[in-house]
Formats: sequence, C-alpha cells, structure tokens
Amino acid sequence: MADDKKIKHLATGDKTIPPDGAKEIPIYIMGRDYMVAETLTIMKAVEYAGYSYVRGCGCRGGICGACGTFYRFIGDYRLRSGLACQTVAEPNMVIMQLPFFPANRPSYELDTASGNPHEELRRLYPEVFKCVGCGTCTRTCPMDIDVMDYIALMKRGDLKGAAYKSFDCVMCGLCAARCPAQITQFTAAMFVRRIYGKHIQPAATHLKKRVEEVKSGKYEKMLKELTAMSLVDVKKLYVEREREPDLCESGKWMPKDTTKL
Ligand code: FES
Repeated sequence: MADDKKIKHLATGDKTIPPDGAKEIPIYIMGRDYMVAETLTIMKAVEYAGYSYVRGCGCRGGICGACGTFYRFIGDYRLRSGLACQTVAEPNMVIMQLPFFPANRPSYELDTASGNPHEELRRLYPEVFKCVGCGTCTRTCPMDIDVMDYIALMKRGDLKGAAYKSFDCVMCGLCAARCPAQITQFTAAMFVRRIYGKHIQPAATHLKKRVEEVKSGKYEKMLKELTAMSLVDVKKLYVEREREPDLCESGKWMPKDTTKL
C-alpha cells in the first residue's frame, strides 16, 4: 500500500487498513487489477483500492441490499454473487458491483387492491406465472432465501406463505438479474407482503389500541420530558430501558417455516 494512501486512511480512521502483517492479494475491480489486503470484504477492498462509494453502499451490515455484487474467479466458468459488505475478497476475484438494478416496479394502490389479491398479483406481475423452476434465483440469493419456492407459492395463491418465506429479502436484486423468465422476484414479493399485511392478515388489536392512546395525547407529557433531557441522561435511560421479549427465541414467531403458522 502506498504511504500516502496509508496516511489518508489512518487520518480518516478507515477500517480498510489491514492488520499488521496482513498479506496483499490480487483482485480485479471493474476490469482493473489491484493488490488489496487479504482480510477485507469486497466493499472495503474497493475502498482500499481508492474508490469512494456514491451508490451501491448503505448499511455496511448486510441489511439494506444496496451492494449486490457479481464476481468470478479467473479460470472458473461459474458466475458467483454476494453482498459486497459481507463477502470477503479472495485472490483472483474479478468483481463487478451493481450500483442499481432496473427492476419492474408497477405502481398500485393498496387500498383499492383488496378484491382479489391473487388476480392483482397476476395483473401487476404476469411474469411470475412464467417461472420455469430453474432455481437460479434460489442459488443466487445472498440471504439463503428459497426464492423459487416463494414464487411457486405465489403461483398457487398462497400469499401468506410467500409473504413469510420472502420476509428476509434485502431487495438487492441479484435474483432478478439472473432470472431467465425475467421475473423481478423481490418487487413481486414486496407487493405480496404489503397486500398480505393490508388485506389478509388480521389487524393487530394491540397496535390499534396503542394508536388510539397516541392520538389521545397519552404520551405528550413523557415526550416533553424526554426532549428536555440532556444527551447523557437520554443515553442512560436507553441503556436501562425495559426490553421486549425475543419472540423468535420463545418460539412464538417462525418467519421461515410457514407450516408452523
Ligand atoms: S451495504 Fe447494506 S447490505 Fe451491503
């Protein structure tokens, strides 16, 4: 690593600085070759090579789906994919990051789409019903979601199953980028989760009650006290707060296995 780059990275506290003694490895970014530290994720390797992210980077934690990336190893026929912030760079990786995926995003009004949600899905996303069942989407998903399965559930009209099975989607678009039937699985799944939540899932009574409490002004006094507190006191309060029980741990919430719902 050149000294001026090292000084710049040290000055900004950038974590792309490799640990002492880390080896450098050759990788290719957008067609150019670079030497980067062997311990870095693709995202940090790209920054280490001197690029700054304007698009294609958000949370850096595998949640926002902004950093979908395709790569191939030299001499290997297979095209691979992953999230740049979660995938460790390896020697001879040829990397191409998607700054944006041009997905099919039809507009719809959830309020007026209540009649027949399955028909509405067919009208908005007719390509879903052309799925050939190749499974490329499932193999491409960096979140290990069985995309092909939730598309099959959509075709059968099981929107509840599709909504739960697609719940962990981070909308990176990698599945759609490789689909031979041109399906944009991730936006169709978003529609299904929305329409399921709006028109099929029973309304949550505790939420309705809480909204009524908020509207009645029950929390106004508490809010005024909070906004008048110092930052130190707010942090202390946050650390000492009462935490909600973990529903997954208690077995009350199983988002992936719809057979238990
Ligand atoms: S930056 Fe958000 S998932 Fe990678």
